Amino acid sequence: MSARFTGKVVLVTGAGSGIGRATAERFYAEGAKVFLVDINAKGLGETVAGMADTARVQSAVVDLSQPAACHEVVAKTVAAFGQLDVLCNIAGILVTGRIEEITPEAWQKVLQVNLTSVFFLCQAAVPELAKTKGNIINMASSAALVGQAYAIPYGVTKAGVAMLTKSLAMEVAERGIRVNAVCPGAVNTPLAATANFPKDATPRLIDKLMSFFGFAQPSEIAALVAFIASDEARYMSGSVVPIDGAQTAG
Ligand SMILES: NC(=O)c1ccc[n+]([C@@H]2O[C@H](COP(=O)([O-])OP(=O)(O)OC[C@H]3O[C@@H](n4cnc5c(N)ncnc54)[C@H](O)[C@@H]3O)[C@@H](O)[C@H]2O)c1
Repeated sequence: MSARFTGKVVLVTGAGSGIGRATAERFYAEGAKVFLVDINAKGLGETVAGMADTARVQSAVVDLSQPAACHEVVAKTVAAFGQLDVLCNIAGILVTGRIEEITPEAWQKVLQVNLTSVFFLCQAAVPELAKTKGNIINMASSAALVGQAYAIPYGVTKAGVAMLTKSLAMEVAERGIRVNAVCPGAVNTPLAATANFPKDATPRLIDKLMSFFGFAQPSEIAALVAFIASDEARYMSGSVVPIDGAQTAG
């Protein structure tokens, strides 16, 4: 594997599982120093345990639904490694159900974890990324691009992440910071495996969530994230990029 990120510092949220873990592994394999964050101590510990060069790995168990915690993890990353080059906002939760089944608590929670945390992590990171001419990659979803039944709050947060990405890319371009979002379709992770759609869901609406290519692997999403974060993608900013096996193409 090439070492595009030697000397770079990458903060990855949601690094205890799925796409976040694969992304952490990818940046680590390409030479980065990684600061890994998750609410799940066990999963985070497993990710860290797979990284032998301990001088390049730091981690923190954090609930990112609190804005103060978002600022803290950016500060901890800079305290640990002296700078921040790439912020990967990957932590997220899926809430499913028909509209009548979504409680006020579930609505608030998915907004806090999927959207508010991304905003405050970006807010905390911008002054640091201005120093390194760094970049941000936000994990949106195909649910940001087309309507998806039985997960309305989730889709709303991901559409919010997509617009946050575009607006922030405009605002910080003159400071040399790039901001992009990735929109995966169905990825083979615990989040997708435990998706709990209504038992009597209309099959046509569930079919629309799937690609003829089946599920993506988390490493395939991580490969795209690493490309976008790299210098090869210097001209790429404000992009909201589908990676969904044509799920949303037509
Ligand atoms: N799996 C898919 O099909 C799919 C598709 C499109 C987008 N996504 C997005 O990709 C991202 C990663 O999802 P995944 O499929 O790898 O899921 P996952 O459940 O495997 O990983 C998500 C991680 O986020 C962490 N997390 C949840 N709440 C947190 C909080 N409050 N604070 C800190 N960490 C928290 C979890 O502990 C978990 O380790 C999510 O934003 C998800 O919406 C996933």
